[in-house]
Amino acid sequence: MKRNKVGLVLAILMVIIYSSNVKAQATYQDPYRPQVHFSPVAHWMNDPNGMVFYKGVYHLCYQYFPDASHWGPMHWGHATSKDLVHWNQEPIALYPDSLGFIFSGSAVADIHNTSGFGKNGQVPLVAIFTSHNAKGEQAGRNDFQNQSIAYSLDEGKTWTKYANNPVVKNPGIRDFRDPKVTWYEAGKKWIMTLATQDHVTFYASKNLKEWVKESEFGKELGSHGGVWECPDLFQLEYNGKSIWVLTVSMNPGAPNGGSGTQYFTGKFDGHQFVTDQKSTKWMDYGMDNYAGVTWSNTGKRVISLGWMSNWLYAGVVPTENWRGATTVPREISILKLKNDYYLTAKSVRELEILNDKKLALENVKADQLDLNQKIGGFSSPGRLSFSAKTLTSFSIILSNDAGENVVIGYDQDQHQYYTDRTHSGKTDFEKSFGGKAIAPRIAEKDGLDITLIFDKASVELFADKGLTAMTEIFFPNQPFNHIQLKTPAGYIIDKLEWNNLNSIWKK
Ligand code: FRU
Repeated sequence: MKRNKVGLVLAILMVIIYSSNVKAQATYQDPYRPQVHFSPVAHWMNDPNGMVFYKGVYHLCYQYFPDASHWGPMHWGHATSKDLVHWNQEPIALYPDSLGFIFSGSAVADIHNTSGFGKNGQVPLVAIFTSHNAKGEQAGRNDFQNQSIAYSLDEGKTWTKYANNPVVKNPGIRDFRDPKVTWYEAGKKWIMTLATQDHVTFYASKNLKEWVKESEFGKELGSHGGVWECPDLFQLEYNGKSIWVLTVSMNPGAPNGGSGTQYFTGKFDGHQFVTDQKSTKWMDYGMDNYAGVTWSNTGKRVISLGWMSNWLYAGVVPTENWRGATTVPREISILKLKNDYYLTAKSVRELEILNDKKLALENVKADQLDLNQKIGGFSSPGRLSFSAKTLTSFSIILSNDAGENVVIGYDQDQHQYYTDRTHSGKTDFEKSFGGKAIAPRIAEKDGLDITLIFDKASVELFADKGLTAMTEIFFPNQPFNHIQLKTPAGYIIDKLEWNNLNSIWKK
């Protein structure tokens, strides 16, 4: 008895010491910690989930393992923001239950109370997610992923699981997950877009509880290098015409390896999605933007957010006390080029509240510009943008005193943007990490229009008004403190701006 008690006291002490250590270690001042991107204060995150805008608040849930910095039984972590920039950590929204782990999914504001969950005029927020039964998976079953719902009557503070879960039962497809639900106004019904192994399946419902299968899409279309995951369906306007967009994440098989997100443009009539698109198109050609989906209930604005990592190495990146962050929220629009539609992405305008302008130049001879000296030495986070009338090769080199660097550039002969993290510091945790990633230049017009957002351990490139995007993470042994812009001799840049960005976290 006595020995048991001593053992218990020791165990409790160890837990206290361990958890206080973790708290002391995981801070927003960690060397690689993003300063203008969301990451949970400690431990593992992957996909963004349950993104809904309601009463002036953006909700961001995410795949979360609260006990360690590696993937584990999934919960939905929860954060909120009033400006898409500063985030408050909220209590965990959804815990695993008897149906399984809480895998990816979406959330909607059920304004008309179609679900009947709302009482006394309350608007329920309804989360739709995959219940992943790990035991069923281990037992070799095929039906271990099913779709469930939960609702909140206090604007996302607490969530109640629906008593009759699951609401969509698995017909025997191993990869059957990541429901994204949207309101289809023309048919006054909800549409669920579900990733079902090598295609997408659409379901419809009047009340979010009973769903009927409508159609399938994509078995023979697009890229099939891996399993389809985390789809999304939304509308964009181009010259007064409504275009439907279907985005689908896929792992592996992305253009530069591992995880990536492709998209299709076409028509949706409430039952079926059709496209006449011939080529495969990607939301982002970098290695680190995955599982991105859009916020619901944002009116005509389409705002997307991805997980800034790649399943190739997400579990072994050298951050230890926390692992995983999001991209910056991006506003998605559409353009017509070469008789085809292409998406564009730019960081949301809200991010500009972080600007601390250090340099604005016009008509500069780029080869005579000492950018590093002009901005007083590179430090992240920061944003560089520049434009020129003629197109040319260029490169931007971030470096440190340890001789490490990251290069971002454009190769005119190849018509390709690229990022190169071969010498970026810690790369040996995974062989596919250190290397060059390339992206096609989609824009047809001459001229350069570049925006780069740098954080402590990432860069996001938006080229040609966001027609080509690339997102890359990196882990230098010392912070990069030098920046160089290289262009051909005599090259004139019309406009260049450098902003230090203020951190979104309280010091
Ligand atoms: C995508 C994904 C989803 C799944 C979740 C599990 O990154 O594999 O398909 O729901 O992560 O954490």
